Amino acid sequence: MRRALVTGGNRGIGAAIAEGLAAAGLEVIVGARVLAEGAAVARRIGGRAVALDLEDPESLTRAVAEIGDLDVLVNNAGVLGAGPVLGEGALFETSMAVMVAGPHALMRAFVPGMEARGYGRVVNVSSGWGSFDDGLEGPGAYGVAKAALNALTLAASRDTRGDVKINAMCPGWVRTRMGGAGADLTPEEGAETGIWLATLPADGPMGGFFRQRERIAW
Ligand SMILES: NC(=O)c1ccc[n+]([C@@H]2O[C@H](COP(=O)([O-])OP(=O)(O)OC[C@H]3O[C@@H](n4cnc5c(N)ncnc54)[C@H](OP(=O)(O)O)[C@@H]3O)[C@@H](O)[C@H]2O)c1
Repeated sequence: MRRALVTGGNRGIGAAIAEGLAAAGLEVIVGARVLAEGAAVARRIGGRAVALDLEDPESLTRAVAEIGDLDVLVNNAGVLGAGPVLGEGALFETSMAVMVAGPHALMRAFVPGMEARGYGRVVNVSSGWGSFDDGLEGPGAYGVAKAALNALTLAASRDTRGDVKINAMCPGWVRTRMGGAGADLTPEEGAETGIWLATLPADGPMGGFFRQRERIAW
């Protein structure tokens, strides 16, 4: 049974991806800052939860040790704040920790094992707001972090050996805490492309950026 980790799996798109992967027959580990929230999702979908705060290096190290080997990594956790990228406060540092350094650390921890075992899928949940082609319209630190996550996706995919696929995706505008009540898509609809990328066959795409299963420009 393939084993998957979904970061920020306690709510929103992450919970929907976790549920979809469990329904597809994977063993799902729900990563959550608040363990009880992750455990509630894990109980519902028949998985387990791990405490994982991407801003806390010790939490990250503990989670990696607790998880062991992984076949599928979904870097879903994200934060969206207002304010200019050069503004006061820690929003830039938080955004880069959650959406760039955290995914990088998890990829560095788990991808070598995937390569050694000959199978792996990494899905980086990004955003059209991190696309240069689309004008890099993400507010402040968010757009910069998502653009960096896209760059990390492409760079890491070029280094990877064997049947290990690293891709990024934009879920669309989704009704979650982040997306708000007026958004177009349900969390399940927003999760669909992520579930597809997490379960790609060996001849599936590699090193791409997708929305609704279609390749989009970086
Ligand atoms: N919703 C949209 O329209 C939309 C559009 C484009 C891209 N996205 C992307 O989709 C992903 C999921 O977003 P969502 O809409 O489901 O948002 P959400 O409902 O706000 O969920 C965000 C998740 O990230 C987690 N998270 C935040 N900081 C974290 C940290 N330091 N460590 C670990 N987890 C952390 C949150 O945990 P807590 O519950 O503990 O805060 C939560 O589980 C994000 O990467 C987002 O950028 C969303």
